[in-house]
Amino acid sequence: MFSVLVRRDGLIEPPPMSEVDAHCHILPGLDDGAPNEETAIAIAHLLVELGVVKVIATPHVISDIYPTSTDQILNATAALSTCFSRLGLPLKIVPGAEYYVERQFLDRAVKRDLLAWGKERYVLFEAPVYREPMLLEEVIFTLKSSGYTPLLAHAERYRFLQGNLDRIEALRRMGARFQVNHPSFHLPKVSRSGELARTLYIKGYADQFGTDIHRATSDDRVLAVSGDKRLFDRLNARAN
Ligand SMILES: [Fe+2]
Repeated sequence: MFSVLVRRDGLIEPPPMSEVDAHCHILPGLDDGAPNEETAIAIAHLLVELGVVKVIATPHVISDIYPTSTDQILNATAALSTCFSRLGLPLKIVPGAEYYVERQFLDRAVKRDLLAWGKERYVLFEAPVYREPMLLEEVIFTLKSSGYTPLLAHAERYRFLQGNLDRIEALRRMGARFQVNHPSFHLPKVSRSGELARTLYIKGYADQFGTDIHRATSDDRVLAVSGDKRLFDRLNARAN
């Protein structure tokens, strides 16, 4: 068990940034994340300032919008890793993806044709925010039976999980694990995403943390260097 600090405003003190960023759109030119190498480097600098030592690169993979191939992800990760070494940036980068729940994803799970990471063989996937997809349970079972650990991206954002602890616990019993966006801990009490992020954390259901950063500026880095919490307001405002 761990203890959480409750602040005067009634919110818990956000946990420290995890050393592993399990969800980040740092690879340039593949999705709606970093548009070029310059932005990817700005994101990397920001992550290092925040204390991240390993980032899982997780571009969207959605068949009709971002049909990013595994080869593209592997090549972009290798190129960025070389770039970090050249710049002396102390950040390890690991190839991953943020797969969308759809039939094509399910087919690839059956064929064991997915990018997974860690000894748990986590596969990060996302669902529509408003309504639980019909394929969700089948996806979880198929990933499990193919030897993966299903990791639901930014679990705090889904309307079908907010205020629904029974469903959260049922999905966990099926084998789903949850990734929570670290900036969500800084959302106010009126935010349903913020409330669920805190609930998941307190219950021990936040299995992995991520930033879900899509872009960064030098101003962001200045805020990170000075420990200015307004950085998280910026990141939350840009979340998509
Ligand atoms: Fe994402």
